[in-house]
Amino acid sequence: MISLLQVQDLHVAYISGAGKVSPALEGVSFDVLPGETLGVLGESGSGKSTLALALVRLLPGNAEIQKGAIQFEGQDLLRARPRALERVRGARIGLVFQEPSLALHPTIRIGKQVSDVLAAHEAASRAARHQKTLQLLREVFPADASRIADSYPHQLSGGQQQRVLIAQAIACGPSLIIADEPTASLDPTTQQEILELFRMLREKFNLSLILITHNPPLLAGLADRVLVLYAGKVVEIGPTEQVLGSPQHPYTHALMQSVPPGLDEPAKDRKSRLRVIPGEAPNLAVLMNGCRFESRCTDRMEQCAEREPPAVAMSEVHAVSCFKYGE
Ligand SMILES: Nc1ncnc2c1ncn2[C@@H]1O[C@H](COP(=O)(O)OP(=O)(O)O)[C@@H](O)[C@H]1O
Ligand SMILES: [Mg+2]
Repeated sequence: MISLLQVQDLHVAYISGAGKVSPALEGVSFDVLPGETLGVLGESGSGKSTLALALVRLLPGNAEIQKGAIQFEGQDLLRARPRALERVRGARIGLVFQEPSLALHPTIRIGKQVSDVLAAHEAASRAARHQKTLQLLREVFPADASRIADSYPHQLSGGQQQRVLIAQAIACGPSLIIADEPTASLDPTTQQEILELFRMLREKFNLSLILITHNPPLLAGLADRVLVLYAGKVVEIGPTEQVLGSPQHPYTHALMQSVPPGLDEPAKDRKSRLRVIPGEAPNLAVLMNGCRFESRCTDRMEQCAEREPPAVAMSEVHAVSCFKYGE
């Protein structure tokens, strides 16, 4: 099958005012097939949001894409002109972020905010847009779409706000949705509901989905494949059952040992839980020769500090960057 999205050797760094270069992604490669859900898993600071923003060219001004290619529906987004990017962003690729309240305008009614997304990308009459807006809101609020359309964001719960953002993300019939920690600000029950909504919409509209999270259980029933990001590198990628069920990279292994089965807890508990893997991720501004996980790895060998482990194919669909395998 031909990939919908193909990312090759992507390098992104943040440049400080003093010109200091801090790499955030180094040589990230993967693809997403039509209709496929790819989970991106990694602890805080691993580069997940940088990846999401780079894919749609929405990185902040102090970020620099140093190298790579991002092929999406036949064009390289790293070389596309601004006009072409605008047609892709929000239309062919829908975006959903962690904090729905920040993404909605506080003083504009929900219906208008959804309708504005349509207006930005499609030439249609106001009446047609109004119809389409209600239809979209019904996808995510089957019972009370018109009441929601007339509401202001503050009248909605976090879960309802996230549903609005999802309606906006699917408004123009995208082929890909990128969701960056879409449930991290929600309580566990609402998280389940939002995940269920993604599952339903994905089937109904044959969407590909990149679902980004720090929380492995969230991917278990939803992702076809999982990419594990550690300190800006892909350390493991493969089918979800294999990566989560029998993780091969010591980092993935440690990550799976450290998470309780279940969805997100409130943010204050999250930090303490992530310290279950002893040590800290390396400072990428400091040049290093070896494996990024070396200092925290219980399986480390001499060569791990000396050079970087290449990706080793465990099977046609499962790759791991670790000296324990291959060679
Ligand atoms: N706007 C920014 N300016 C400078 N550094 C940033 C910025 N955003 C992220 N970073 C750095 O890039 C790295 C990756 O961050 P991020 O992509 O946000 O990770 P994640 O989403 O996995 O938590 C971190 O070291 C972070 O401090
Ligand atoms: Mg993030």
